[in-house]
Amino acid sequence: MQTGRALPRSVAETGELLEAGDYVSDTALATAVFLSLKLGRPLFLEGEAGTGKTEIAKVLAAVLGRRLIRLQCYEGLDVASAVYEWNYARQMIEIRLAEASGGADRESLGRDLFGPDFLIERPLLQALRGGGGDEPPVLLIDELDRTDEPFEAYLLEVLSDFQVTVPEIGPIRAAVPPAVVITSNRTREIHDALKRRCFYHWVGYPDARRELDILARKAPTAPDDLSRQVVGYVQKVRELDLFKLPGIAETIDWVHALMQLDAVALDPAMVNDTLGVLLKYQDDIARLQGSEAERILNEVRVELAAAGAA
Ligand SMILES: Nc1ncnc2c1ncn2[C@@H]1O[C@H](COP(=O)(O)OP(=O)(O)O)[C@@H](O)[C@H]1O
Ligand SMILES: [Mg+2]
Repeated sequence: MQTGRALPRSVAETGELLEAGDYVSDTALATAVFLSLKLGRPLFLEGEAGTGKTEIAKVLAAVLGRRLIRLQCYEGLDVASAVYEWNYARQMIEIRLAEASGGADRESLGRDLFGPDFLIERPLLQALRGGGGDEPPVLLIDELDRTDEPFEAYLLEVLSDFQVTVPEIGPIRAAVPPAVVITSNRTREIHDALKRRCFYHWVGYPDARRELDILARKAPTAPDDLSRQVVGYVQKVRELDLFKLPGIAETIDWVHALMQLDAVALDPAMVNDTLGVLLKYQDDIARLQGSEAERILNEVRVELAAAGAA
């Protein structure tokens, strides 16, 4: 059984708590997390892919000692996959057994078959029922922008009352609401109505200092110079007009890849050969490869040298 930890009492404490889980936040994000936990309202995180939205929910669950229940959204997600489903196979067996023993009267059998024993709980219902722990779980509703609007409308209902209704059983309400984190990569707009129920926070790319801090935690054995160059480089690449800018996940991957190649600092050939770790679209890679990649590297070197001399 997991043992829960008390909720943070301030924004600063929230930042420290996240850091204890190797998550580097800034004041705005720590404030959103703090208020969401304190006031029991879902946290809605929107931002580009790879900026650390999903990670927040995972880290929160870990540092609070709560269970993480994850609902991964996709097109066509329905109530049967998200909330509950009747266990048809078990119901059939129960019917057969009742037939074989000859005894059971139809009415009570019918009642039993649609009782809690035959219900398969999916993530939303699991979260409302407490997820089997003493403390309310952390419910992660990941990439909500992938679902369709009817599901979003359904979710709005669930999140306003922390309750779902199973027609055969009646309403099921959370004794203590779960902590909810919703993420969206913004491939479409989520309705205002849903956002209004939540604390909204836009998760942007980190500045160089924060990204270095993240690398220090996620790639602690990387040489300092390499980390600084990588961060400087990625920050510059993010200023370009590319199809898909590199996220924090890519920065971490790049450092790890470079370390595998025994790099202690960036050089033009090394950058060219490993661009595929940073960029995921051929057009973007083609645009950078060669002279542009080298130009950026030179800029980074000059800036780091200037910063070092200062
Ligand atoms: N602020 C952060 N502190 C520490 N690690 C981070 C941070 N942001 C992102 N990461 C790392 O980047 C990876 C990708 O983040 P993720 O949460 O999956 O992005 P998103 O859900 O926004 O697409 C995570 O596995 C995590 O290791
Ligand atoms: Mg994610």
